[in-house]
Amino acid sequence: MILTEYDKLLESLQYVKSIVSSAPKVGIICGSGLGDLVNILEKPISIPYSKIPHFPQSTVVGHSGELVFGEQNRLPLVCMRGRVHLYEGYDAIECIRPIRLMAMLGIEILCVTNAAGNVNKNFKPGDFMIIRDHISFPSLAGENPLRGPHDERFGDRFVTMSNAYDMELINEIEDASVEIGLDKHVRKGIYGMVVGPTYETIAEARALKLLGADTIGMSTVHEIIAAHQMGVRCLGISLITNDITTDYSSMEDIVEHEHVVDMGARRSKDFVRLILAFLKGVRREMKV
Ligand code: HPA
Repeated sequence: MILTEYDKLLESLQYVKSIVSSAPKVGIICGSGLGDLVNILEKPISIPYSKIPHFPQSTVVGHSGELVFGEQNRLPLVCMRGRVHLYEGYDAIECIRPIRLMAMLGIEILCVTNAAGNVNKNFKPGDFMIIRDHISFPSLAGENPLRGPHDERFGDRFVTMSNAYDMELINEIEDASVEIGLDKHVRKGIYGMVVGPTYETIAEARALKLLGADTIGMSTVHEIIAAHQMGVRCLGISLITNDITTDYSSMEDIVEHEHVVDMGARRSKDFVRLILAFLKGVRREMKV
């Protein structure tokens, strides 16, 4: 018997529910080097992706693969510690399976984090960028996670994307950054998604900048598309780990994977503070 995507997810869901009884309200995806975020969880219960039926396995250093359930000051959360990427060879539909599972578990808000390179001269490595909008270069080139047979149990086929990033959540995290004195390091801009795993050539970086991207990364967008289709309110935050060279005469900004992971580790304390302050606002709004 051939299982539909929805059938596969029902099996994943059944397994997860056999281990965890509480229903999370907020999901958080921890990006490269940002796995420390799971430490905010009280009473954590961790489920390795390898145990969950039909779950893709992360193959990247800096991305362990586990779903961690817990609470933060009475707010029930689930964190994805590690994600899978298109560049690992997974199809977009496999990359969004964990997000669909979180939506089926009942999350109302998804907070997606990532590490990204920078092409905006007003931003710098170590800054955080709230994602106001995205440009999905893979989707524009035919690699949209919703391409293929439509199952209305996931939502509409033709999904409006102009409201994908929830304005109230954006305001909430901006307020949170002011509250904890981090606002000078918090920007707002456009995330451009590429497939990777190669970093950009100088000509590509120039082209992406010209088209309106501020940061560039290899994740997030398909996750936002999946969550938004299922009615989950979305917030995205990039940690800017490196500048991307757009100048042939300056080779200072050449990026290597280690820089990305190192910056994640260096800024993880502030990232955790920012997310905690944001969750305080969410608790207020949800009256938890
Ligand atoms: N380009 C693409 N993805 C990235 C980068 C980059 O420079 N840095 C971190 N993720």
